Amino acid sequence: MNITFRQLEVFEAVSKALSYTQASKALHLSQPAVSMQIKQLEDNLGIDLFEQMGKQIYLTEAGIEMFRYSQVISQQLDEVSEVLEQLKGVQRGKLTISVASTANYFATRLLAAFSRKYDETTFSLDVTNRETLLLQLDNNEPDLVIMGKPPADRELLAEAFMTNPLVVVAAPDHPLIGVKDIPLELLQEETFVVREKGSGTWGAMQRFFASHSIVLNTGMEMTSNEAIKQAVEAGLGLGIVSVHTLSLELETHRLAILDVQSFPILRDWYLVHRQGKRLSPVAEAFRQFVFDEGQKLIGFN
Ligand code: PGA
Repeated sequence: MNITFRQLEVFEAVSKALSYTQASKALHLSQPAVSMQIKQLEDNLGIDLFEQMGKQIYLTEAGIEMFRYSQVISQQLDEVSEVLEQLKGVQRGKLTISVASTANYFATRLLAAFSRKYDETTFSLDVTNRETLLLQLDNNEPDLVIMGKPPADRELLAEAFMTNPLVVVAAPDHPLIGVKDIPLELLQEETFVVREKGSGTWGAMQRFFASHSIVLNTGMEMTSNEAIKQAVEAGLGLGIVSVHTLSLELETHRLAILDVQSFPILRDWYLVHRQGKRLSPVAEAFRQFVFDEGQKLIGFN
């Protein structure tokens, strides 16, 4: 069988109109050109597809079968061209993403793995705190945001993809290192180096201690997890950070996690965008990628 897509297209038009004249108008072809395509198709197949009775043409039994299959073929052609267009969109697309300061510890790893898969995509990554992320979402700036749970009263679509445990860290020579099941009350005797107000970590910490009626003695406030870790290492107090900010410090024993009752504080990481926002193909592909591969790539849970 040696038929062409063009012949199939002409055949479909004639089958639907049951008229060479109508079909030639729909296809912007001359009537002899349409008749010739059908004749060639019938010759290729070795069977008549139409029969003429008076002035009217009808599909033969073979024509009816052929029509059924040609519809499936053209549907599939439409589908594949749509999929390819989408893929071109992902390949050449640009992803604008904003992440919470703490999420930056794994966001670059996610983006690197994603760009290995779609190597022509480009990115813009903004790292900032929770308050600013919510403002950016209000202004519809980023395609996607990675942050802790956003407030329920905003028109946002938030999907959790991984847990984010917050732990208490101490310098390796701290007297509580190695103590099992440290009661929460004991923390009131310590000084804490904390994240800035407006950060998700700070909010989670406040809610947690308030719900346990514990008043923390907070010392320095810092806008970066790195600064907190260094301050704790230098003996300026205890810190509360996400485990996602720790790996090297634990491996090299520069910091240790304390075994405190009711810890870790369990938060979740969310992929967030505005409700009703139409995600671009590249944003949709990244969203899917985070759900499929995120946990495996980031680890630590
Ligand atoms: P943060 O966000 O970096 O602003 O603390 C993380 C979170 O929401 O837990």
